[in-house]
Amino acid sequence: MQQGDRLRGVVAVDGPAGTGKSTVARRLAASLGARYLDTGAMYRAAALGVLRAGADPAEPTAVSEVVVRCHIEVGTDPETPRVLLDGEDVAREIRGPAVTAAVSPVSAVSRVRELLVAAQRRIISDATASGGGIVVEGRDIGSVVVPDAPLKVFLTASAAQRAARRAAQDGVEDVAEVRRAVERRDRLDSGRAASPMCAAADAVELDTTALDVDAVLARVHELVVTRGLTGLAARGRT
Ligand code: DC
Repeated sequence: MQQGDRLRGVVAVDGPAGTGKSTVARRLAASLGARYLDTGAMYRAAALGVLRAGADPAEPTAVSEVVVRCHIEVGTDPETPRVLLDGEDVAREIRGPAVTAAVSPVSAVSRVRELLVAAQRRIISDATASGGGIVVEGRDIGSVVVPDAPLKVFLTASAAQRAARRAAQDGVEDVAEVRRAVERRDRLDSGRAASPMCAAADAVELDTTALDVDAVLARVHELVVTRGLTGLAARGRT
């Protein structure tokens, strides 16, 4: 990759937890002068809103009523991802166990998906309006949010490897319990009726079980280049 090359258009990075999606998507965006959108953070902020309102995450009507009123804002700078819920920075809180447990049922509610997918599409269209690029990570980006994305990557890894990565990341010793939680979330995210997690038919699937982040990043970079998605930075462009 030449210095000064910048991404044009959308790269969709989907896959389950623990595949290295976030790190790869952020680093890819930073290295290509692109924006970065973490759609999982938006669902997590919605789940936090539901918990704070005292609503039951398993009650779709109550969930929709709360989420419609939530004001969720996400930043798109890959160096400093920001998530605000009703004006408050919740970047740390949305990674906690309470939100992680509530996010799958909340994100399965179709009204929640409608609201957040519409917001995601607005952010993506702003980022790409004048020839810019954005790397978007989630579960349904290539299949639903941006079905015409010029590059879709679907990352996978064995459940054992994903649990080990998550446990190391969160400083948890009980890897077996982390694995059960990861598998539970996979089942809910893949089994829901409203846009379940799945690889788009034209996605490039990449098994990261035996690869480190640098290797995955190199592979995705290569795909970006071979698809002709980079152009030299315009002088003076920010
Ligand atoms: O990527 P993450 O673990 O932060 O995502 C949290 C949850 O949000 C995940 O369990 C499923 C949901 N999600 C989704 O349904 N669709 C997306 N595009 C992104 C995340």
